[in-house]
Amino acid sequence: MKQPIISFQNVVKNYDGQPVLKNVSFDIEEGKFYTLLGPSGCGKTTILRIIAGFSEPTKGDVYFQGQKVNHIPANKRQVNTVFQDYALFPHMNVYENVAFGLKIKKLPADQIDAKVKEALQMVRLAGFEKRGINEMSGGQRQRVAIARALANEPKILLLDEPLSALDHKLRTEMQYELRNLQRKLGITFIFVTHDQEEALAMSDEIFVLNNGNIVQSGSPVDIYDEPINHYVADFIGESNIVKATMVRDELVHFAGHNFACVDGGMRPNEAVEVVLRPEDLTLTMVEAGKITVQVQTQLFRGVHYEIICQDQDGNEWMVHSTRKAVPGKTYGLNFEPEDIHVMRFNESEADFDARLESYED
Ligand SMILES: Nc1ncnc2c1ncn2[C@@H]1O[C@H](COP(=O)(O)OP(=O)(O)OP(=O)(O)O)[C@@H](O)[C@H]1O
Ligand SMILES: [Mg+2]
Repeated sequence: MKQPIISFQNVVKNYDGQPVLKNVSFDIEEGKFYTLLGPSGCGKTTILRIIAGFSEPTKGDVYFQGQKVNHIPANKRQVNTVFQDYALFPHMNVYENVAFGLKIKKLPADQIDAKVKEALQMVRLAGFEKRGINEMSGGQRQRVAIARALANEPKILLLDEPLSALDHKLRTEMQYELRNLQRKLGITFIFVTHDQEEALAMSDEIFVLNNGNIVQSGSPVDIYDEPINHYVADFIGESNIVKATMVRDELVHFAGHNFACVDGGMRPNEAVEVVLRPEDLTLTMVEAGKITVQVQTQLFRGVHYEIICQDQDGNEWMVHSTRKAVPGKTYGLNFEPEDIHVMRFNESEADFDARLESYED
């Protein structure tokens, strides 16, 4: 990896003696789209505030392109933030809002004009200069906030849950727009969300947070296919997580049977958990299935049916299927060895990576 644009090294943040960030280390590579994903209160905004320079770490160091910046104030950093509530000035029009930071920097008027026009063009709001903020829709306000941040030509753009106030359709549209904008400009984006679908759709890299720690980092596909533990598997997408025993490499026991799988590197008969994604499961005739299940309920979700079944051990299985099932009826449940993902209890991300590497070679 080339020199990271931002690097956190063992960053701890305490508020009133309480740790909010416990020991956070990561590298951010220039020009990529990063997402901090985690539930409310896990420390996402706190990380953004430290990157932006609004807050200092209690312990540990923050580097910007190799330079330590722990004590560099926000206005001296090449970082801009789009806040969750946009923080626009309601008494100013669109133009004045976007021009605000440039006026503070005392740029000449013609330069301000050029930069504001360019920024508004980027977010497709050319022609809206004179509109009052209160005369703009939620999605348009959001784009004004992005234009205001972009007008300052930051190296890094921080976006704190910028889409959470929008309805579903607009939100999806803005996801495309933000992703395209990031590709076009090549600026590093650090985006915060607690919505896993949004994180999977938009990011080059995701950091999954829990309780002031990064529990797993990687590409959306890596994190979706190979969550390191129950927390990540549960947080990222719908999953079936079942207690199991790793009989030996490539053989795992759950729901009363042994199953071939592709994982290994555990102790013989180690207690583990397995994850099976609902879209990897199919319902078939009892004789043709690996596990026998009874359908409890089903919901139509537009693209598929979400079918909840129970096996004879009482494990619940969620199946996504384009075909309807019959509640109360017994079916066979089927899956392939590569659909079974085995997780150890309490394995760190480093140990997980090392085991995978040694086992897959
Ligand atoms: N200035 C502060 N003083 C004291 N505690 C704070 C302060 N700012 C944040 N906290 C606490 O730190 C923890 C993490 O807060 P943070 O705002 O980073 O969470 P978050 O992940 O952004 O959550 P959300 O998704 O709800 O925005 C919370 O428990 C919060 O109450
Ligand atoms: Mg927050």
